[in-house]
Amino acid sequence: MVDYDVIIIGAGAAGMMCAATAGQRGRRVWLIDHAKKIGEKIRISGGGRCNFTNIYAAPDAYLSKNPHFCKSALKQYTQYDFIDLVKSYGIAYHEKKLGQLFCDDSAQQIIDMLLEECKKADVALNTGVTVDTIHKQEDGVYYVITGAGEYTASSVVVATGGLSIPKIGATKFAYMIAEEFGLRIIPPRAGLVPLTFQNELLEFCKELSGISVDANVRCGKTSFREGLLFTHRGLSGPSILQISSYWKEGEDISINLLPDLDVDTYLKDQRNHNPKMDVKNTIADLLPVRLTQKICEELQLSGKTGEISDKIISRIAMRLNDWRIKPSGTEGYRTAEVTLGGVDTDELSSKTMEVKKHPGLFFIGEAVDVTGHLGGYNFQWAWSSGVVAGRNA
Ligand code: FDA
Repeated sequence: MVDYDVIIIGAGAAGMMCAATAGQRGRRVWLIDHAKKIGEKIRISGGGRCNFTNIYAAPDAYLSKNPHFCKSALKQYTQYDFIDLVKSYGIAYHEKKLGQLFCDDSAQQIIDMLLEECKKADVALNTGVTVDTIHKQEDGVYYVITGAGEYTASSVVVATGGLSIPKIGATKFAYMIAEEFGLRIIPPRAGLVPLTFQNELLEFCKELSGISVDANVRCGKTSFREGLLFTHRGLSGPSILQISSYWKEGEDISINLLPDLDVDTYLKDQRNHNPKMDVKNTIADLLPVRLTQKICEELQLSGKTGEISDKIISRIAMRLNDWRIKPSGTEGYRTAEVTLGGVDTDELSSKTMEVKKHPGLFFIGEAVDVTGHLGGYNFQWAWSSGVVAGRNA
């Protein structure tokens, strides 16, 4: 007889959800984590209020080599299922913007709710347990070699997340196990992360550090309209974090600092109607003062609006509506909210999250090559993939 029906490695968002679901089916579940404190990412998420899902969660908000893979899990356990769970615990929440749901009080309420769900399901939970490796015997039983001894299970679920924020316990454990079991991995990289710049662009950002504007940021065919923030390392804010998941080294991004205004048409109009106004004043009202000043300096603008040529108008319009810049990199896993890539979805059943060639072995959450946009989508993936694995492990 095996020691446990299911051993789940990683007591984060996906692992806890999976443990509660499997336990509620009557499975004997052991949930372990190497960290002393569990659910740390939930605790620090959403500025301490956890953006726990998004009303508009749908497959098109996810990046993956196979964009269809996430459909089944998201359908089997939806945002409304999770909202019902939150409501059943009396946790007050609100929509901040764009369908993003946050706790009114604290992210700790979500952790407590998941712990209570695990408790109700008789899940055995141990923290501070390291796992060296996992072996599969010929009879299909899994051996999990931990710092606390060796244990057998019929199913093992790897829920150890991605590489973001190593200082709160992120490790490459999931990729290591995937490799040991001969599974392909889509190379991981930092996502939802600030972009960095060098030389003049870095100086430009540094001087404007702290200023934020509403912007439309584009990379290739993908664009996001949300806040953009200048920082002492480069650019951040929701629009930049979103586009960072699509940006690859060497590519340009295009920033529209005035997404509601066609600057070319506006300036030509002003040239006719306000010819005596200083050109700097004509654009001064459009953006924060310091930003306008820097742009005027850079473009060496002077003189009256009535005197500016079509060529100069077109240069100003390009700078404001289509500012093309090349990031030098990202801030990396130190500040990234997610890790793109991970276990190749071709290796897994989208209906169960089970490894096709190793029945009984499951990968869920951020360890898998499914990454959501900013705004509660990543937790929804953790809940959905966790529940689906919990129903089948
Ligand atoms: P998660 O990282 O949550 O859990 C993995 C667990 O495995 C951890 O407890 C870790 O200690 C453990 N572990 C790792 N290696 C191990 C090993 N070798 N042995 C044993 N245990 C191991 N998303 C969202 O939807 N809304 C939001 O508001 C935010 N906000 C946010 C803020 C910040 C600062 C970050 C970094 C991330 C977010 N996210 C987010 C993303 C979200 O936190 C993330 O996608 C989910 O937590 C992923 O859930 P997982 O359970 O897959 O991994």
